[in-house]
Amino acid sequence: MNGSASNPPDLRRAAAARALELVRPGMRLGLGTGSTAAAFVALLGARVRDGLDVIGVPTSEATRIQAEGEGIRLATLDTLPELDLTVDGADEVDGALRLIKGGGAALLREKIVACASRRMVVIADAAKRVETLGAFPLPIEVNAFGLTATRRAVEAAVERSSCTGAVVLRADAAGTPVVTDGGHHILDAHLGRIPDPERLSATLWSVPGVVEHGLFLGIASAAILASAENDAAHVTVLGDLG
Ligand code: A5P
Repeated sequence: MNGSASNPPDLRRAAAARALELVRPGMRLGLGTGSTAAAFVALLGARVRDGLDVIGVPTSEATRIQAEGEGIRLATLDTLPELDLTVDGADEVDGALRLIKGGGAALLREKIVACASRRMVVIADAAKRVETLGAFPLPIEVNAFGLTATRRAVEAAVERSSCTGAVVLRADAAGTPVVTDGGHHILDAHLGRIPDPERLSATLWSVPGVVEHGLFLGIASAAILASAENDAAHVTVLGDLG
């Protein structure tokens, strides 16, 4: 884990490596999505090839493809509805282990898998730790039907929750709306700060057409946060690793 000025420490890998220490033979694992979760899947794959027997449920098609390539045995929540541990990244983490997720548009499957797990452990660069959630735009997954009406209703819900900011349909570089693994679209709410995440969560859920949102409240049990200190990766833990 040592680095140098020209070769900074790999913080994603450092957080992922600490999470790997939680994995025991026979575990049923939720496999997250994003670059930090991908570092975990890569390290897990190496252990599997050395003989570790675990089974994983991926939170996205991208993770499914990566995990298959790593040789990790996979299942779905239909055949494996209860998991021991989910390891996933996050876009923001606050001191109460409340998260914003969905920067990679996988929030729906990520939340389903995390909630089917006895423990969810977040792995992230310590820069993701915030005092107040909301600087990262909040992803909201919506049904394609009635998109404009749903966006307006989401804007009204945001205002009722004492938040302000634009609600923008996520599109790729060519301007084509992003389609999630579930066939839905993503609205990104640029709120700056979310003073009452629980209230915003409940209000968003009251909007027909909202499939899920990226506020993960009361779901994560711990966060492994990696930072660079003296050219080396340093890991701190928020919460209880169990
Ligand atoms: C995927 O939808 C997200 O929830 C990711 O877990 C989140 O965006 C973190 O991604 P990185 O690890 O790539 O920062």
